[in-house]
Amino acid sequence: MSNVFPVPPPTPTFDGYMAPRMSEFSPAFNEFLNEQLIIDREQMADRVLGLLRLSDFVVQGFGLTQLDHGLQTAAYAEAAGMDVDIVVAALCHDMGKVISTPNHGAIAAEMIKLYVHRDAYWAVLVHQDFEGIHYLGEMGIDPMLRRRYSDDPAYELAEQFADEWDERAFDPNGSPPPLEHFEPMVREVFGRKPRLLDHWEESRAANAAAAGADAPTAVPA
Ligand SMILES: [Fe+2]
Repeated sequence: MSNVFPVPPPTPTFDGYMAPRMSEFSPAFNEFLNEQLIIDREQMADRVLGLLRLSDFVVQGFGLTQLDHGLQTAAYAEAAGMDVDIVVAALCHDMGKVISTPNHGAIAAEMIKLYVHRDAYWAVLVHQDFEGIHYLGEMGIDPMLRRRYSDDPAYELAEQFADEWDERAFDPNGSPPPLEHFEPMVREVFGRKPRLLDHWEESRAANAAAAGADAPTAVPA
């Protein structure tokens, strides 16, 4: 069990003065931090693989573990010829159950969001609502919650995700490829440089545009 979730090696300590407040960090310390964040980024794939291995301990009464379920889901996505973002999203879509089942879709979606394309992220985000057709009615909830997303460009993908892959991936006797089969895809996706948070990107673009508008115009000679 101790090797399921990799513990990153200790990071080096800054050789110098570290101010007690972020606002007082020195340029040299900030440079050191940036180097550490690159190391941290390189450990992202291992952390995701660790979380997936942990999901092999989540059963919840199903006849298979959540890792097996994720492997079966990913195998269907791969067989359907989906791109690597969607296959990895399928593999990871339920890993949030390691933390909290009621909102596991949002947890997993947020974890993959900055590394995969928007549609792959979105399919994971809404997959509980799309899966609801199979069980939400028994809970007194509209089983067709998916209707609220009918205008989304990835609606058909989310339907395919739920109805052709996720819903069919509970076979206790299934024999999907092992996690090692998908590991290169996990490393490819989570080895990418993550995008900025959406509102950070919007803020940066707005500031850049404003700076451009206010920039002094060169006077022709
Ligand atoms: Fe699932």
